[in-house]
Amino acid sequence: MALGVRRLSYGLGAEITGLDLRNPLDAATAAEIRKIWLENQVIVIRGQHITPAQQVDFGRHFGTLDDHKSLPFYRLQDHPEIFLITNKNVGGKPSETKDTGRLWHSDHSFTTHPTMASALYCREIPSVGGDTLFTNMYMAYDTLSDTLKRILDPLEAIHDITTYAPFRTRNQEQIAEMYRINPPVAQPVVRVHPETGRKALYVSEALTFRFVGMTEAESRGLLEYLWRHSIRPEFTYRHQWKVGDLLMWDNRCAMHMAPADYTPGEPRLMHRITILGTPSGRFYREEPAIKAAA
Ligand code: OGA
Ligand code: MN
Repeated sequence: MALGVRRLSYGLGAEITGLDLRNPLDAATAAEIRKIWLENQVIVIRGQHITPAQQVDFGRHFGTLDDHKSLPFYRLQDHPEIFLITNKNVGGKPSETKDTGRLWHSDHSFTTHPTMASALYCREIPSVGGDTLFTNMYMAYDTLSDTLKRILDPLEAIHDITTYAPFRTRNQEQIAEMYRINPPVAQPVVRVHPETGRKALYVSEALTFRFVGMTEAESRGLLEYLWRHSIRPEFTYRHQWKVGDLLMWDNRCAMHMAPADYTPGEPRLMHRITILGTPSGRFYREEPAIKAAA
């Protein structure tokens, strides 16, 4: 099958045409998709009519799927591989995932096995908005000065789910359990992509708390600069969803966020699959000297 590719922005993103995911993918086509995805970091396949099982089959071509044990409360019944992101009621109650991804982040960077890829399939979208933004973290790194690159290259930063502000309004019993499952993790500030070998910046406003070996006050200015720098408009792509879009991004070299850019009463429903990555980072033990200084 001949695939078409059309870039969607200067920063990142490409649309792939010529696919109907109701049909099984052959290995050669899956390899071609992977190549396009590695080159563009975000791929969009539009106009799909797929079931949860077909979405899961698609994901399995790219790796092992997460069953979302680190965030266990938001899974689709009978399909633990499908994570439900919606503002609709779930099981008769308001959804806990209606504010998913409001801050820039890379999925599961607060674990020692962060997600390689996430793929969202759009089932319902408001009449206006409900967009998702992406940014290219290779570009964010490449455009830093050589001096700052040398400072950042050996650093680690702490990614801590307890710093994720939107969780404060969710079900506190579930949140306490997720905090227990996910202790703080030290991640490299500059991550070498295991497939492309390229360096990408790996800090996010949602989850990065401070640099290892530095106090929060010392870290703040530089972290804020890096957050601001990494979302310069020329590094980004803003996806305006249509029902039937399947979009897959690379969490190792892209960040994303979902603004609250729609009327709350209008339904938005996404099915996400999450593809496991290689280990990155380490469980972090508190540094007594830093605690005393902070
Ligand atoms: C996610 C996420 C954003 C969105 O699925 O990881 O952050 O647009 N979603 O729903
Ligand atoms: Mn996310």
